Amino acid sequence: MKIILATSNKGKLREFRKMCDTEVIAFSDILGDIEIIEDADTFKGNALIKARTIYEKLEDKDAIVVSDDSGISVPLLGGIPGVYSARYAGDGASDKENLYKLVDALKEAGVERTLAYYTAAIAIVSKFGEYVVHGWMYGDILATTRGDNGFGYDPMFVPSGFEHTLGELDDELKKSISHRGKALMLAKPIIEMLQR
Ligand code: IMP
Repeated sequence: MKIILATSNKGKLREFRKMCDTEVIAFSDILGDIEIIEDADTFKGNALIKARTIYEKLEDKDAIVVSDDSGISVPLLGGIPGVYSARYAGDGASDKENLYKLVDALKEAGVERTLAYYTAAIAIVSKFGEYVVHGWMYGDILATTRGDNGFGYDPMFVPSGFEHTLGELDDELKKSISHRGKALMLAKPIIEMLQR
């Protein structure tokens, strides 16, 4: 039974592939480029939109589609960028543009370091039904960037209990503490059950 990942985000694909024992196929390898309008106002809603859209387009209805909708929220700034993390600096913005826009927003607010958290909602859509699980990672966000590891907002995020940003820490460590890693731990038994 195939597991199709409903994302074309290279950072997420790399992390999913490292975290899963079974082969994970990117939807674009089967269906090509598809524009998915993520217009829900929750991570859960957007994760379901992505997984449902891909599942509906697949010929193989035995496949399991897994999607991840995620982002970072800064409570001091009213929870931004939250569900808009991927397009914080505008539609089609690059990870770097989004990153530096958040650095600027913190600087404008006169904040050097403040609490932030990542959220990941993983949706699983299969012929047996739909499931959604969540994972979170708390820490501090800095009005500067350090390191090049990870992707997205990682160079400005220091996980709780650490001194370094995720841009400086290695991917193996991130896997064990990340919002996506935690959500995937919950998703794994569901995926295994659906494969039986
Ligand atoms: P999505 O693909 O619509 O779920 O957007 C997720 C966006 O949130 C990404 O483009 C990143 O900007 C951000 N994001 C989510 N997870 C991470 C992470 O683990 N590290 C850094 N940025 C992340």
